Amino acid sequence: MFVEVPLCILALAASAFALPTARAGVIQSRQAITALSTAQIESYKPYTFYASTGYCSPSTTINWSCGANCQANPSFIPVASGGDGDGVQFWFVGYDPTLKSVIVSHQGTDASEILSVITDAEFELEAVDSTLFPGVSSSVEVHDGFGKEQAQTATAVLAAVQQAMSAHSTTAVTTTGHSLGAAISLLDALYLTIQLPSASVNFIGYGLPRVGNQAFANLIDSKLPNLSHINNKEDPVPILPGEFLGFVHPSGEKHIMDDNSWVACPGQDNDSDECTTGDVPTIFSGDTSDHDGPYDGVEMGC
Ligand SMILES: *[C@@H]1O[C@H](CO)[C@@H](O)[C@H](O)[C@H]1NC(C)=O
Ligand SMILES: *[C@@H]1O[C@H](CO)[C@@H](O)[C@H](O)[C@H]1NC(C)=O
Ligand SMILES: *[C@@H]1O[C@H](CO)[C@@H](O)[C@H](O)[C@H]1NC(C)=O
Repeated sequence: MFVEVPLCILALAASAFALPTARAGVIQSRQAITALSTAQIESYKPYTFYASTGYCSPSTTINWSCGANCQANPSFIPVASGGDGDGVQFWFVGYDPTLKSVIVSHQGTDASEILSVITDAEFELEAVDSTLFPGVSSSVEVHDGFGKEQAQTATAVLAAVQQAMSAHSTTAVTTTGHSLGAAISLLDALYLTIQLPSASVNFIGYGLPRVGNQAFANLIDSKLPNLSHINNKEDPVPILPGEFLGFVHPSGEKHIMDDNSWVACPGQDNDSDECTTGDVPTIFSGDTSDHDGPYDGVEMGC
């Protein structure tokens, strides 16, 4: 699929060539890039289906009767859902008795839609909302478009997660999503960690754009040390917004290589050519058709 790329993105990409080689405060990792085993790759699959199911409207999700991707986790117990797929992305919260975790998922977007959100000429890095994220330093900044999206559903999601934790006597919560849904769910993971100190929160996202600045990435690394953001091949979305604009990914990248093997990339924005930041230095080397997957055989969508 060829997506017409707005001029502003071309300008952003061109400036990416001037990227300095070292950034202040970057967390460098001493670990090696390692291949994931087949079992490790397969362990992500239920979450991949949940990220995909985020696309389904609540009327189908709550009854768990939408497409094949949402029927792939048949033991799922829905708790709450919302959104309208227009001004508010669809979302759902429920419990997976096999994973023994509360699941939160937000609807994603296709490549052209996320690129237009990311490159909205008005966007700014903005301090996180001090009501939703009490105690977080004002130096922690996020893309204001993503911040506004997360704020729209935050309290409803929080109430549903509390209800699910209590109904199923669990402290495990996993937030997931693809594309814009991944950005919202990453912010949800931080939000739930802060609002529910008893919860053990993790995030597993797909095709995640850069959400915030260096202080944000460092905070995520400290609060969510086991998260995964999975990037498929030459998907350009994860390299946007550009690092030169002050955006930094948290650690935890898993990169799907051209031969369909998966590698774990240590550190933030690892620039090895086995990882997305190195493999896709500019959007000219990206392929938007990689954004929707397949992620171990799963294409995103309801
Ligand atoms: C779920 O399915 C039942 C029976 O098909 C239907 O009556 C109900 O309205 C559905 N719920 C939602 C939220 O769509
Ligand atoms: C870290 O997350 C992976 C899935 O992403 C999971 O298999 C593993 O058990 C988790 N490890 C810890 C220590 O929570
Ligand atoms: C990228 O991975 C290599 C291991 O291959 C590691 O030495 C390097 O520090 C990592 N880069 C960052 C930015 O963490």
